[in-house]
Amino acid sequence: MIPSRQEAERLLTEAESCNPGPWGNHSRVAAHCAEKIAEACEGMDPEKAYVLGLLHDIGRKFGVRHLGHVSDGYSWMMFLGYDEAARICLTHSFNNYEVDEYIGKFDTTNEELELIRSGLRKVVPDDYDRLIQLCDALAGSEGVMNIEDRMNDVRRRYGRFPQPKWDSNLALKAYFEEKARKSVYDLTEKATFRLPGNERIMSLPLLYRAARQGRFGTRTEFSRGSVTDALFVYLDGEPEPASAAEVGARYRVRPLVCLTEAWKAHIEARYPGVKVYRRTQMKPASRFILPENLTVPEGFRLAGIDEAAFGKHPFSHGANYPSWGAFRAEGSGAVVYRGGEIVASSSSFLSLDGELELDVSTAEGFRGMRLASACVSFMLRDCMERGFTVHWDAQNEISLHLARKFGFEAETEYPVYWLSEKD
Ligand SMILES: [Fe+2]
Repeated sequence: MIPSRQEAERLLTEAESCNPGPWGNHSRVAAHCAEKIAEACEGMDPEKAYVLGLLHDIGRKFGVRHLGHVSDGYSWMMFLGYDEAARICLTHSFNNYEVDEYIGKFDTTNEELELIRSGLRKVVPDDYDRLIQLCDALAGSEGVMNIEDRMNDVRRRYGRFPQPKWDSNLALKAYFEEKARKSVYDLTEKATFRLPGNERIMSLPLLYRAARQGRFGTRTEFSRGSVTDALFVYLDGEPEPASAAEVGARYRVRPLVCLTEAWKAHIEARYPGVKVYRRTQMKPASRFILPENLTVPEGFRLAGIDEAAFGKHPFSHGANYPSWGAFRAEGSGAVVYRGGEIVASSSSFLSLDGELELDVSTAEGFRGMRLASACVSFMLRDCMERGFTVHWDAQNEISLHLARKFGFEAETEYPVYWLSEKD
C-alpha cells in the first residue's frame, strides 16, 4: 500500500518543516526521475515510482541522522500503513542489501540496526527497489546530476565511496537504459529539468561545476539553494533567509552571479541600487577558426607555456594547477615575451575532465598590438589537437569580439551584480 501523490507531497512538506534541509528537494528530484524512467519501462507504474521516490528519505523528518533515517522512515511509513513506501525507506541505501555497505555513520540503537538487518534479509528486490536506488544516485537538490559527479560529491563529504556500490550504481543505470532503450539522462531531462523556482538563467559555468565537485572554491548548501564562492559568487536554487543574510554579510564588493530567476529577482528587489555589469557566456567549443600563420610584431616572441613560464604564473595564469606536471597534462597556454619579460598570456584557468576555462591578459602598455590574440590562437590550436573543450566567458565587448573571431558563438548574456558596502 502507498499513499496518493497528493498525500505523499503533503507528508514530505510536513516532514521538511520538522527538519529543513536540501533533502526535501533531493526527494522531489528523485521522484521526478523515478516517474520519468518508469514511464519508459514496460510494466512499471510511473505514479507509484513518483510516490516512492518522494518518500524514500522521509525518515529525515525525525532529525539529522545517518543510518537512523533508514529505520525512522521505515517505522514511520509502517505506522501509517504504507508498507511499500516503508520497504523503499529500507532498501534505497543498500544496492547489495547488506547493512555494512552504508556510507555514513552507524548511529542507530541495536534494536533499530536489527530492524534494518532483518528487514533487508526478507526483501526480494524488485524494479522499484532498483529504480529508487538509481534515482537516489541521480538526484541533487537542485536538479538531475551526472551520476559520477553525484558519487564524487558523496565521496568528498563522507571521505569514501565503496567500489562495489559505485559499480552497482553504474550497473543500475545500464539496467534501466537497457529496459527503456534510452539514456537515463534524456529520460529524466537532465539538461533542462528544474523544480519550480529553480529555473536556471544560464547553463552551469565550468568554475561552478568544479566547485560543486569540491575541486575549487568553497560552497555552502542551504535548504533550498546554495552559495558558491569560486572566483565569482554563484547563487543557485532559491534564496531563503539564511542564504540571503550570508550574501549580504559576506559577499559585498564581489561579483555575484545569479544562476536562477529566483535569486535574480531577490537581488534586484532587495538592493535596488546594486551595480550591474553584463558578461557573455559563449557556447563551449572544441573546434576553432584559426589563422594560418601566427605572428607577433618584431621584438616579441610567442611560445607555449613551458615549465619556466609556468613557474612565473604570469597574470596568475596556471595558478590553479597544483604543479607544472598537472598543468602540462590537463592545461594549455601561451605567452608573448619581450626580451625576458612576459607581456601577454593566455591559459586555462582550470581544467575539469577535458574541459577548460580560458583566461587571457595583456600587460598595460602592450594592448592594441594583438598579442592576446596571438596567445589565444596558439593555445586554441593546442586545445584542438588535444581534444579539449574550451569555455570562454567574455567580460566585455573586446573579449566578445575576440571570442567570435575564433568561432565561438554567444550563448547567454547575463548580469553580474556588485553590492557596495552601503547597498
Ligand atoms: Fe536520498
